[in-house]
Amino acid sequence: MAKRALVTGITGQDGSYLAEHLLSEGYDVWGLVRGQANPRVSRVRKLLQDVQLVRGDLLDQGSLISAVEKVRPDEVYNLGAISFVPMSWEQAELTAEVTGMGVLRMLEAIRVCSGITASRGSAAGQIRFYQASSSEMFGQVRETPQTESTPFHPRSPYGVAKAYGHFLTQNYRESYGMFAVSGILFNHESPRRGAEFVTRKVTLGVARIKLGLATELRLGNLEARRDWGYAGDYVRAMHLMLGAGDPEDYVIGTGRTRSVRELVEAAFTAAGLDWEQHVVCDQNLHRPAEVDLLCADPKKARTQLGWEPTVSFEELVAMMVEADLRLLADGHDPDHDSSWP
Ligand code: NAP
Ligand code: GDD
Repeated sequence: MAKRALVTGITGQDGSYLAEHLLSEGYDVWGLVRGQANPRVSRVRKLLQDVQLVRGDLLDQGSLISAVEKVRPDEVYNLGAISFVPMSWEQAELTAEVTGMGVLRMLEAIRVCSGITASRGSAAGQIRFYQASSSEMFGQVRETPQTESTPFHPRSPYGVAKAYGHFLTQNYRESYGMFAVSGILFNHESPRRGAEFVTRKVTLGVARIKLGLATELRLGNLEARRDWGYAGDYVRAMHLMLGAGDPEDYVIGTGRTRSVRELVEAAFTAAGLDWEQHVVCDQNLHRPAEVDLLCADPKKARTQLGWEPTVSFEELVAMMVEADLRLLADGHDPDHDSSWP
Protein backbone atom coordinates (compact mmCIF):
# COMPACT_ATOMS: atom_id res chain seq x y z
CA MET A 1 0.00 0.00 0.00
CA ALA A 2 1.21 3.53 -0.78
CA LYS A 3 2.62 5.48 2.16
CA ARG A 4 0.60 8.48 3.22
CA ALA A 5 2.11 11.88 4.10
CA LEU A 6 0.42 14.88 5.71
CA VAL A 7 2.16 18.19 4.94
CA THR A 8 1.44 21.46 6.75
CA GLY A 9 2.54 24.57 4.84
CA ILE A 10 1.55 22.96 1.51
CA THR A 11 0.84 26.39 -0.03
CA GLY A 12 4.40 27.55 0.68
CA GLN A 13 7.61 27.16 -1.31
CA ASP A 14 8.81 24.00 0.44
CA GLY A 15 5.35 22.45 0.61
CA SER A 16 5.09 22.49 -3.17
CA TYR A 17 8.52 20.94 -3.79
CA LEU A 18 8.09 18.37 -1.03
CA ALA A 19 4.68 17.33 -2.36
CA GLU A 20 6.12 16.86 -5.86
CA HIS A 21 8.99 14.81 -4.45
CA LEU A 22 6.75 12.58 -2.33
CA LEU A 23 4.33 12.04 -5.23
CA SER A 24 7.28 10.99 -7.40
CA GLU A 25 8.18 8.47 -4.65
CA GLY A 26 4.70 6.96 -4.86
CA TYR A 27 3.18 8.56 -1.75
CA ASP A 28 -0.43 9.63 -1.22
CA VAL A 29 0.07 13.26 -0.28
CA TRP A 30 -2.33 15.30 1.83
CA GLY A 31 -1.88 19.02 2.40
CA LEU A 32 -3.28 20.95 5.35
CA VAL A 33 -4.90 24.21 4.23
CA ARG A 34 -6.34 26.94 6.40
CA GLY A 35 -8.88 29.74 6.10
CA GLN A 36 -12.29 30.14 4.60
CA ALA A 37 -11.23 31.51 1.21
CA ASN A 38 -7.45 31.19 1.15
CA PRO A 39 -6.36 32.48 -2.30
CA ARG A 40 -3.24 30.28 -2.30
CA VAL A 41 -5.33 27.09 -2.20
CA SER A 42 -6.37 27.41 -5.85
CA ARG A 43 -2.70 27.78 -6.80
CA VAL A 44 -1.94 24.52 -5.00
CA ARG A 45 -4.84 22.81 -6.76
CA LYS A 46 -3.43 23.91 -10.15
CA LEU A 47 0.23 23.15 -9.39
CA LEU A 48 -0.29 19.92 -7.44
CA GLN A 49 -3.32 18.21 -8.90
CA ASP A 50 -2.64 14.87 -7.19
CA VAL A 51 -2.45 16.32 -3.68
CA GLN A 52 -5.55 15.90 -1.51
CA LEU A 53 -6.43 18.72 0.83
CA VAL A 54 -7.65 18.67 4.41
CA ARG A 55 -8.68 21.73 6.38
CA GLY A 56 -6.90 22.74 9.56
CA ASP A 57 -4.88 25.44 11.25
CA LEU A 58 -1.80 25.29 13.47
CA LEU A 59 -3.65 27.63 15.84
CA ASP A 60 -6.46 25.11 16.33
CA GLN A 61 -5.66 21.89 18.24
CA GLY A 62 -8.94 20.17 17.41
CA SER A 63 -8.53 20.75 13.70
CA LEU A 64 -5.11 19.07 13.75
CA ILE A 65 -6.48 16.04 15.61
CA SER A 66 -9.29 15.79 13.05
CA ALA A 67 -6.79 16.07 10.18
CA VAL A 68 -4.57 13.29 11.59
CA GLU A 69 -7.65 11.10 12.24
CA LYS A 70 -8.90 11.64 8.70
CA VAL A 71 -5.61 11.17 6.85
CA ARG A 72 -4.07 8.44 9.06
CA PRO A 73 -0.59 9.44 7.84
CA ASP A 74 2.61 7.42 8.03
CA GLU A 75 4.60 10.67 7.99
CA VAL A 76 3.82 14.25 9.02
CA TYR A 77 5.93 17.14 7.72
CA ASN A 78 5.35 20.30 9.74
CA LEU A 79 6.34 23.12 7.36
CA GLY A 80 3.61 25.60 8.34
CA ALA A 81 4.89 28.77 10.01
CA ILE A 82 5.02 32.52 10.00
CA SER A 83 8.34 32.28 8.18
CA PHE A 84 9.32 35.87 7.34
CA VAL A 85 11.72 37.14 10.00
CA PRO A 86 10.76 40.87 9.95
CA MET A 87 7.10 40.00 10.44
CA SER A 88 8.05 38.27 13.68
CA TRP A 89 8.94 41.62 15.30
CA GLU A 90 5.67 43.18 14.16
CA GLN A 91 3.52 40.20 15.19
CA ALA A 92 5.60 38.46 17.81
CA GLU A 93 2.69 36.81 19.62
CA LEU A 94 1.19 35.40 16.41
CA THR A 95 4.64 34.11 15.46
CA ALA A 96 5.00 32.40 18.84
CA GLU A 97 1.56 30.83 18.42
CA VAL A 98 1.98 29.56 14.85
CA THR A 99 5.72 28.93 14.53
CA GLY A 100 6.28 27.81 18.15
CA MET A 101 3.06 26.54 19.73
CA GLY A 102 1.93 25.13 16.36
CA VAL A 103 4.67 22.49 16.76
CA LEU A 104 3.28 21.50 20.16
CA ARG A 105 -0.24 21.23 18.74
CA MET A 106 0.92 19.05 15.83
CA LEU A 107 2.94 16.76 18.10
CA GLU A 108 -0.01 16.49 20.50
CA ALA A 109 -2.35 15.61 17.63
CA ILE A 110 -0.02 12.77 16.65
CA ARG A 111 0.44 11.63 20.26
CA VAL A 112 -3.28 11.60 21.02
CA CYS A 113 -4.28 9.91 17.74
CA SER A 114 -1.56 7.28 18.24
CA GLY A 115 -2.63 6.56 21.83
CA ILE A 116 0.83 7.39 23.16
CA THR A 117 1.13 8.20 26.89
CA ALA A 118 4.10 8.60 29.21
CA SER A 119 3.68 5.04 30.47
CA ARG A 120 2.82 3.55 27.06
CA GLY A 121 5.41 4.53 24.49
CA SER A 122 4.91 4.43 20.76
CA ALA A 123 4.58 1.12 18.96
CA ALA A 124 5.98 0.00 15.62
CA GLY A 125 4.18 1.59 12.70
CA GLN A 126 4.11 4.92 14.51
CA ILE A 127 3.62 8.21 12.70
CA ARG A 128 7.00 9.77 11.84
CA PHE A 129 7.26 13.53 12.39
CA TYR A 130 9.48 16.11 10.64
CA GLN A 131 9.88 19.61 12.10
CA ALA A 132 11.11 22.48 9.88
CA SER A 133 13.80 23.93 12.15
CA SER A 134 15.96 26.79 10.96
CA SER A 135 19.53 28.08 10.87
CA GLU A 136 17.98 31.30 12.20
CA MET A 137 18.19 29.56 15.63
CA PHE A 138 22.00 29.93 15.52
CA GLY A 139 21.53 33.71 15.23
CA GLN A 140 24.62 35.39 16.66
CA VAL A 141 26.76 32.41 15.84
CA ARG A 142 29.14 30.88 18.39
CA GLU A 143 31.21 29.08 15.75
CA THR A 144 31.52 28.78 11.97
CA PRO A 145 30.52 26.59 10.24
CA GLN A 146 27.46 25.61 12.28
CA THR A 147 26.79 21.96 13.11
CA GLU A 148 24.07 20.00 14.91
CA SER A 149 25.79 20.77 18.23
CA THR A 150 26.42 24.53 17.77
CA PRO A 151 24.56 26.40 20.58
CA PHE A 152 21.59 28.59 19.68
CA HIS A 153 21.47 32.38 20.12
CA PRO A 154 18.37 33.45 18.15
CA ARG A 155 18.11 37.11 17.14
CA SER A 156 14.41 37.43 16.27
CA PRO A 157 11.07 36.34 17.73
CA TYR A 158 10.93 33.95 14.75
CA GLY A 159 14.27 32.38 15.75
CA VAL A 160 13.12 32.05 19.35
CA ALA A 161 9.85 30.38 18.28
CA LYS A 162 11.79 27.96 16.05
CA ALA A 163 14.13 27.11 18.94
CA TYR A 164 11.08 26.23 21.08
CA GLY A 165 9.73 23.95 18.34
CA HIS A 166 13.15 22.37 17.93
CA PHE A 167 13.61 21.54 21.61
CA LEU A 168 10.02 20.35 21.91
CA THR A 169 10.48 17.92 19.01
CA GLN A 170 13.60 16.58 20.73
CA ASN A 171 11.67 16.34 24.01
CA TYR A 172 8.77 14.34 22.47
CA ARG A 173 11.34 11.96 21.02
CA GLU A 174 12.97 11.53 24.44
CA SER A 175 9.75 11.54 26.51
CA TYR A 176 7.52 9.33 24.37
CA GLY A 177 9.93 7.52 22.07
CA MET A 178 8.31 9.18 19.07
CA PHE A 179 10.10 9.18 15.72
CA ALA A 180 10.30 12.97 15.73
CA VAL A 181 13.17 14.79 14.01
CA SER A 182 14.20 18.32 13.09
CA GLY A 183 15.99 19.44 9.96
CA ILE A 184 18.03 22.56 10.71
CA LEU A 185 17.76 24.00 7.22
CA PHE A 186 19.79 26.94 5.99
CA ASN A 187 18.26 29.40 3.52
CA HIS A 188 16.89 27.72 0.41
CA GLU A 189 15.38 29.46 -2.55
CA SER A 190 13.72 28.88 -5.91
CA PRO A 191 11.51 30.58 -8.50
CA ARG A 192 8.63 29.77 -6.09
CA ARG A 193 10.19 31.74 -3.20
CA GLY A 194 7.95 34.40 -1.63
CA ALA A 195 8.58 37.89 -3.06
CA GLU A 196 9.38 39.27 0.42
CA PHE A 197 12.60 37.25 0.85
CA VAL A 198 15.82 38.87 -0.33
CA THR A 199 16.73 36.46 -3.16
CA ARG A 200 13.34 36.75 -4.85
CA LYS A 201 13.12 40.48 -4.12
CA VAL A 202 16.42 40.85 -5.96
CA THR A 203 15.59 38.59 -8.93
CA LEU A 204 12.18 40.22 -9.38
CA GLY A 205 13.84 43.64 -9.08
CA VAL A 206 16.40 42.71 -11.72
CA ALA A 207 13.68 41.45 -14.06
CA ARG A 208 11.62 44.63 -13.60
CA ILE A 209 14.67 46.81 -14.36
CA LYS A 210 15.70 44.70 -17.35
CA LEU A 211 12.18 44.95 -18.83
CA GLY A 212 11.99 48.71 -18.21
CA LEU A 213 9.30 48.37 -15.52
CA ALA A 214 11.49 49.93 -12.79
CA THR A 215 14.78 51.78 -12.45
CA GLU A 216 15.87 51.10 -8.85
CA LEU A 217 15.85 48.39 -6.20
CA ARG A 218 15.84 49.37 -2.50
CA LEU A 219 17.59 46.98 -0.12
CA GLY A 220 18.73 46.86 3.49
CA ASN A 221 21.92 45.28 4.86
CA LEU A 222 24.16 44.17 1.98
CA GLU A 223 26.85 42.75 4.29
CA ALA A 224 24.79 39.94 5.88
CA ARG A 225 26.00 36.52 4.78
CA ARG A 226 23.87 33.45 4.15
CA ASP A 227 24.37 29.87 3.02
CA TRP A 228 21.91 29.77 0.09
CA GLY A 229 20.83 26.53 -1.60
CA TYR A 230 18.05 25.28 -3.88
CA ALA A 231 14.73 24.32 -2.27
CA GLY A 232 14.27 21.28 -4.54
CA ASP A 233 17.44 19.78 -3.05
CA TYR A 234 16.42 20.49 0.54
CA VAL A 235 13.05 18.72 0.45
CA ARG A 236 14.87 15.50 -0.50
CA ALA A 237 16.75 15.82 2.78
CA MET A 238 13.47 16.07 4.73
CA HIS A 239 12.27 12.80 3.20
CA LEU A 240 15.61 11.07 3.83
CA MET A 241 15.47 12.07 7.52
CA LEU A 242 12.11 10.35 7.99
CA GLY A 243 13.35 7.26 6.14
CA ALA A 244 16.45 6.88 8.33
CA GLY A 245 16.91 3.99 10.76
CA ASP A 246 17.04 6.25 13.83
CA PRO A 247 15.38 9.59 14.58
CA GLU A 248 18.10 12.26 14.55
CA ASP A 249 18.43 15.96 13.76
CA TYR A 250 20.47 17.18 10.79
CA VAL A 251 21.98 20.43 9.52
CA ILE A 252 21.19 20.96 5.82
CA GLY A 253 23.11 23.57 3.80
CA THR A 254 25.77 23.88 1.11
CA GLY A 255 28.76 24.77 3.31
CA ARG A 256 29.38 28.00 1.35
CA THR A 257 28.45 31.50 2.46
CA ARG A 258 27.85 34.64 0.34
CA SER A 259 26.91 38.19 1.19
CA VAL A 260 23.73 39.90 0.04
CA ARG A 261 26.08 42.12 -2.00
CA GLU A 262 27.42 39.01 -3.83
CA LEU A 263 23.85 37.86 -4.44
CA VAL A 264 23.00 41.26 -5.93
CA GLU A 265 26.10 41.28 -8.15
CA ALA A 266 25.36 37.74 -9.42
CA ALA A 267 21.70 38.52 -10.20
CA PHE A 268 22.36 41.80 -12.03
CA THR A 269 25.25 40.24 -13.94
CA ALA A 270 23.01 37.33 -15.00
CA ALA A 271 20.76 39.92 -16.72
CA GLY A 272 23.66 41.93 -18.17
CA LEU A 273 23.11 44.87 -15.79
CA ASP A 274 25.39 46.91 -13.51
CA TRP A 275 23.97 46.68 -9.97
CA GLU A 276 25.66 49.87 -8.75
CA GLN A 277 23.51 51.93 -11.12
CA HIS A 278 20.26 50.59 -9.67
CA VAL A 279 20.58 49.44 -6.04
CA VAL A 280 19.71 51.95 -3.30
CA CYS A 281 20.64 51.14 0.31
CA ASP A 282 17.81 52.07 2.66
CA GLN A 283 18.42 52.26 6.43
CA ASN A 284 14.70 51.68 6.98
CA LEU A 285 15.16 48.17 5.60
CA HIS A 286 17.71 47.18 8.27
CA ARG A 287 16.49 44.85 11.06
CA PRO A 288 16.40 45.55 14.81
CA ALA A 289 18.87 42.68 15.33
CA GLU A 290 20.69 41.03 12.44
CA VAL A 291 22.06 37.56 11.86
CA ASP A 292 25.40 38.47 10.31
CA LEU A 293 26.77 35.16 9.17
CA LEU A 294 25.38 31.71 8.48
CA CYS A 295 27.37 28.82 7.03
CA ALA A 296 26.42 25.15 7.37
CA ASP A 297 28.56 22.13 8.05
CA PRO A 298 26.38 19.48 6.35
CA LYS A 299 28.84 16.61 6.97
CA LYS A 300 26.43 14.54 9.06
CA ALA A 301 23.73 14.65 6.37
CA ARG A 302 26.30 13.74 3.72
CA THR A 303 27.76 10.78 5.58
CA GLN A 304 24.60 9.40 7.26
CA LEU A 305 21.89 10.24 4.71
CA GLY A 306 23.96 10.42 1.51
CA TRP A 307 22.49 13.90 0.92
CA GLU A 308 24.26 16.37 -1.39
CA PRO A 309 23.06 19.63 -2.92
CA THR A 310 23.01 19.55 -6.74
CA VAL A 311 22.45 23.22 -7.68
CA SER A 312 25.23 25.79 -7.21
CA PHE A 313 24.66 29.37 -6.03
CA GLU A 314 25.37 30.72 -9.53
CA GLU A 315 22.94 28.22 -11.11
CA LEU A 316 20.29 29.08 -8.53
CA VAL A 317 20.54 32.83 -9.10
CA ALA A 318 20.50 32.38 -12.90
CA MET A 319 17.48 30.04 -12.62
CA MET A 320 15.56 32.62 -10.55
CA VAL A 321 16.45 35.59 -12.78
CA GLU A 322 15.43 33.67 -15.91
CA ALA A 323 12.15 32.54 -14.33
CA ASP A 324 11.29 36.10 -13.26
CA LEU A 325 12.14 37.54 -16.68
CA ARG A 326 9.73 35.00 -18.23
CA LEU A 327 7.05 35.65 -15.60
CA LEU A 328 7.12 39.43 -16.01
CA ALA A 329 7.37 39.24 -19.80
CA ASP A 330 4.12 37.20 -19.66
CA GLY A 331 2.48 40.07 -17.80
CA HIS A 332 2.50 38.54 -14.29
CA ASP A 333 4.06 40.40 -11.37
CA PRO A 334 3.66 38.88 -7.89
CA ASP A 335 2.29 41.26 -5.29
CA HIS A 336 5.02 42.70 -3.16
CA ASP A 337 5.19 45.12 -0.27
CA SER A 338 8.46 47.02 -0.71
CA SER A 339 8.32 48.46 2.82
CA TRP A 340 9.27 45.06 4.36
CA PRO A 341 12.90 44.86 5.51
P1 NAP B 1 6.55 29.80 3.27
O1 NAP B 1 6.65 29.75 1.78
O2 NAP B 1 6.45 31.11 3.96
O3 NAP B 1 5.28 28.92 3.69
C1 NAP B 1 4.74 28.97 4.99
C2 NAP B 1 3.52 28.09 5.04
O4 NAP B 1 2.98 28.14 6.37
C3 NAP B 1 2.39 28.52 4.09
O5 NAP B 1 1.90 27.37 3.42
C4 NAP B 1 1.33 29.06 5.04
O6 NAP B 1 0.01 28.85 4.59
C5 NAP B 1 1.56 28.18 6.26
N1 NAP B 1 0.94 28.72 7.46
C6 NAP B 1 1.05 29.99 7.96
N2 NAP B 1 0.27 30.12 9.05
C7 NAP B 1 -0.35 28.92 9.25
C8 NAP B 1 -1.29 28.44 10.20
N3 NAP B 1 -1.77 29.20 11.17
N4 NAP B 1 -1.70 27.16 10.10
C9 NAP B 1 -1.25 26.35 9.09
N5 NAP B 1 -0.37 26.76 8.16
C10 NAP B 1 0.07 28.03 8.24
O7 NAP B 1 7.77 29.01 3.93
P2 NAP B 1 8.84 28.00 3.26
O8 NAP B 1 9.98 28.79 2.74
O9 NAP B 1 8.12 27.05 2.38
O10 NAP B 1 9.39 27.26 4.55
C11 NAP B 1 8.74 26.10 5.05
C12 NAP B 1 9.12 25.92 6.52
O11 NAP B 1 10.52 25.81 6.65
C13 NAP B 1 8.72 27.08 7.43
O12 NAP B 1 8.38 26.52 8.68
C14 NAP B 1 9.98 27.91 7.55
O13 NAP B 1 9.97 28.64 8.74
C15 NAP B 1 11.02 26.80 7.53
N6 NAP B 1 12.34 27.17 7.02
C16 NAP B 1 12.45 27.72 5.79
C17 NAP B 1 13.71 28.01 5.28
C18 NAP B 1 13.89 28.62 3.91
O14 NAP B 1 14.99 29.13 3.62
N7 NAP B 1 12.88 28.58 3.05
C19 NAP B 1 14.86 27.72 6.04
C20 NAP B 1 14.70 27.12 7.29
C21 NAP B 1 13.44 26.84 7.77
P3 NAP B 1 -0.96 30.02 4.01
O15 NAP B 1 -0.83 29.95 2.54
O16 NAP B 1 -2.29 29.59 4.48
O17 NAP B 1 -0.48 31.32 4.60
N1 GDD C 1 13.97 40.28 3.04
C1 GDD C 1 14.93 41.19 2.85
N2 GDD C 1 14.65 42.36 2.18
N3 GDD C 1 16.17 40.92 3.34
C2 GDD C 1 17.14 41.85 3.11
C3 GDD C 1 16.90 43.03 2.41
C4 GDD C 1 15.59 43.32 1.94
O1 GDD C 1 15.31 44.34 1.34
N4 GDD C 1 18.07 43.72 2.34
C5 GDD C 1 18.99 42.99 2.97
N5 GDD C 1 18.43 41.85 3.45
C6 GDD C 1 19.12 40.83 4.26
C7 GDD C 1 18.43 40.56 5.60
O2 GDD C 1 18.76 41.60 6.54
C8 GDD C 1 19.01 39.21 5.94
O3 GDD C 1 20.26 39.36 6.57
C9 GDD C 1 19.23 38.54 4.58
O4 GDD C 1 19.07 39.58 3.60
C10 GDD C 1 18.28 37.40 4.26
O5 GDD C 1 16.95 37.84 4.49
P1 GDD C 1 15.69 36.93 4.04
O6 GDD C 1 15.80 36.54 2.63
O7 GDD C 1 14.46 37.70 4.45
O8 GDD C 1 15.87 35.57 4.86
P2 GDD C 1 16.25 35.28 6.39
O9 GDD C 1 17.65 34.78 6.40
O10 GDD C 1 15.90 36.40 7.27
O11 GDD C 1 15.24 34.08 6.73
C11 GDD C 1 15.03 33.00 5.81
O12 GDD C 1 15.94 31.97 6.10
C12 GDD C 1 15.78 31.36 7.39
C13 GDD C 1 16.86 30.28 7.51
O13 GDD C 1 18.07 30.86 7.90
C14 GDD C 1 13.57 32.56 5.96
O14 GDD C 1 13.28 31.63 4.95
C15 GDD C 1 13.33 31.90 7.31
O15 GDD C 1 12.01 31.34 7.34
C16 GDD C 1 14.37 30.79 7.48
O16 GDD C 1 14.20 30.13 8.71
